[in-house]
Amino acid sequence: MGTDMQTQVGIVGAGPAGLVLSHLLHLDGIDSVVLEQRSRSYVETRIRAGVLEQGSTDLLIETGVGERMLAEGAVHEGVNLQFGGERHRIDFAKLTGGRRITVYGQVEVVKDLIATRLGAGGTILFEAADVTPIGVEGHHPTIAYRHDGADRELACDIVAGCDGFHGVCRQVIPAGVLTEFDREYPFGWLGVLATVAPSTDELIYAFHERGFALHSLRSPEISRLYLQVDPSDDIANWPDGRIWEELQLRLASPGWTLHEGPIIEKEITAMRSYVCEPMQHENLYLAGDAAHIVPPTGAKGMNLAVADVTVLARALADWFHRGDRAGLETYSDRCLGRVWRVQDFSNTMTELLHVLPAGDPFASRVQRARQRYVATSQAMQHTIAENYVGLPVT
Ligand code: PHB
Repeated sequence: MGTDMQTQVGIVGAGPAGLVLSHLLHLDGIDSVVLEQRSRSYVETRIRAGVLEQGSTDLLIETGVGERMLAEGAVHEGVNLQFGGERHRIDFAKLTGGRRITVYGQVEVVKDLIATRLGAGGTILFEAADVTPIGVEGHHPTIAYRHDGADRELACDIVAGCDGFHGVCRQVIPAGVLTEFDREYPFGWLGVLATVAPSTDELIYAFHERGFALHSLRSPEISRLYLQVDPSDDIANWPDGRIWEELQLRLASPGWTLHEGPIIEKEITAMRSYVCEPMQHENLYLAGDAAHIVPPTGAKGMNLAVADVTVLARALADWFHRGDRAGLETYSDRCLGRVWRVQDFSNTMTELLHVLPAGDPFASRVQRARQRYVATSQAMQHTIAENYVGLPVT
């Protein structure tokens, strides 16, 4: 056994959930150690989504990690939904009393948080292998791991499982404790990063009979685009020329031009919804994708993670500083309320915008009716705006 460490909160995973949690705990005087199986350069370069709700942005600014986001992120006051080549702008600022979103890559948020934690003397162990929580049912949980070729153990009071959908933390919960809710969609997203100035100032979500397409952005020089594809499709079937051709067809709108450029990244991701209940077992608390995932159509993944750990950090402060367990005991229920609201929104957006499998003409007619309703009803646009900018964390 190598050198052992001890901390109050052992955090598994250095994604947005684990890093924001570690940062919030530090500001509250609570010690944590983050164990991450990947290398620092891996987590700082993996491409993820990039939309921050107003509440997530506010939190990063208020806690001192918003400086680069304020300088380099783009504040958007609306998004466009397109049906049959016709664009309908959802005006967030008008419909939500001035709330907005910020487009800033998740990978940039991760870089900022890592720099801030390390700058404050925090411990993040990258390339920690075989990470395994042990004894979360007792008062002295530990996390076993291998680092630099040696077996080690981190002793802690609480384990925070922030290790994503495929992580180990949820797996150590005994069978029968969790109820799992799962939905796989018959859609995949082919995501593209291209070095070309975005052809739009605000996101365009387009429904087209050939499939869904999304035009997002990363910077004045980088565009982020997506196409609905079969989830089992192979990226080898998608040479750059075919991708641009399909984007041109699906995003086309009168009087508007999509500019093309070199594609620097492309990948296909399947889409699913998943929730486990409860989000906690004894001294193990799950947060972010470890407990739930949403299809990307609502741009909610990172925001849900931030909301979870905001609730968890407050509950841990009540426990460590005041011996009050109430927040920890209600953590799961409080998070799940928001998680299911967001599942509903993400599912609604997904089914509104993707071409549904053939063979259900009733579903297609309902979808068309809903698209017309979105295009014409202020009440429906209000609902989309309120959910898109994010409901308050309570
Ligand atoms: C992105 O910019 O990567 C993005 C934007 C909106 C989404 C999903 C992804 O709904």
